[in-house]
Amino acid sequence: MRRVRIALLGCGTVGGGLVRLLAAGRERIAASHGVEFELARVLVRDVSRAREGVSPERLTSRVDEAMPDDAEIVVELLGGLEPAGTLVRAALRRGLPVVTANKALLAEHGRELFALARANGATLGFEGSAGGGVPIVRALRGGLAGNRIESMEAVLNGTCNVILTRMEQDGMSFAEALRGAQEAGFAEADAGLDVGGHDAAHKLVVLSALAFGHWAPPSSVNVRGIEAVTPQALADARARGRALRLVASAQRWGAALELSVAPRELPREHPLARAAMEQNVIVVRGDTVGELVFTGRGAGAGPTATAVLGDVCDAVAALPRLEAWMPPAMMRAG
Ligand SMILES: NC(=O)c1ccc[n+]([C@@H]2O[C@H](COP(=O)([O-])OP(=O)(O)OC[C@H]3O[C@@H](n4cnc5c(N)ncnc54)[C@H](OP(=O)(O)O)[C@@H]3O)[C@@H](O)[C@H]2O)c1
Repeated sequence: MRRVRIALLGCGTVGGGLVRLLAAGRERIAASHGVEFELARVLVRDVSRAREGVSPERLTSRVDEAMPDDAEIVVELLGGLEPAGTLVRAALRRGLPVVTANKALLAEHGRELFALARANGATLGFEGSAGGGVPIVRALRGGLAGNRIESMEAVLNGTCNVILTRMEQDGMSFAEALRGAQEAGFAEADAGLDVGGHDAAHKLVVLSALAFGHWAPPSSVNVRGIEAVTPQALADARARGRALRLVASAQRWGAALELSVAPRELPREHPLARAAMEQNVIVVRGDTVGELVFTGRGAGAGPTATAVLGDVCDAVAALPRLEAWMPPAMMRAG
């Protein structure tokens, strides 16, 4: 069995979910991919806190120790621009496959990071960065590659959708609903990114780069969040047979691309209106395939770790083969 050592950067909601999934799926992964994953090092802020499934000697809070020489895959689940950006760049320069769910980093520096990956023969997996457990990155990259995408409309922020659902169904205030979403592990560490619409904008930038081949700067997205939405506005919309959702939209206008994030009232039967709680829904219109609707859980440890692990398994294919990787003495012994 090929052992593959992972440097795990971040062991919070998603990182912890990945550790659990690696343990629960060990036998399945061994059977399907012929590998056994092992944690080489786990970077966290607070090494004194126990992390389920991680032996304490693997933990470090030192960025310069986070990616030991024998790490073969780097999984970045820190969030934010730094130190995530510095570590991802260093890993790519070493030619290591990197997997990240960090849409903020990709939205700001995606073009540069993919160029760096290409220059160093490294791969950069990012399925977990948008859509959580919904394999939308794979769909846009693979199956839809031959289509000209005309538009994309999506509910991409699970936290906002949980808040809007709770406010509408349970009559909660915005503050109460936000607290509930944070306690359930849906909200980003900085909830302002979620409720202000910026997290959805980052995801839209990432998906648009795939769909339209153009890295739009996040500052070019017209963004309005849900902070000003009131229970009354939701009740009024409901009385009119409509639902309110935070909609991320990318629309071609000739050669131009218009990106926006804003609360929008939709007919109840609209696919985006059917997104409940942390569900994400992405409606893609391609010139040949027509309209496609992707849906599933878009946030939380399990769905996001699922997407990350899928990328980690893909990254195995890019690793040197066992013979090339083993020290010569071991090859003789074997
Ligand atoms: N949560 C979701 O549902 C979700 C969904 C999709 C994508 N994502 C993305 O996944 C990534 C991780 O999100 P998360 O929700 O798992 O975040 P989180 O719960 O805040 O976890 C972050 C982890 O990184 C560690 N960390 C952060 N800054 C560090 C630093 N400067 N030095 C050392 N360690 C540091 C933290 O250490 P401590 O544990 O010691 O604090 C923690 O273990 C983000 O890019 C996020 O956007 C999250």
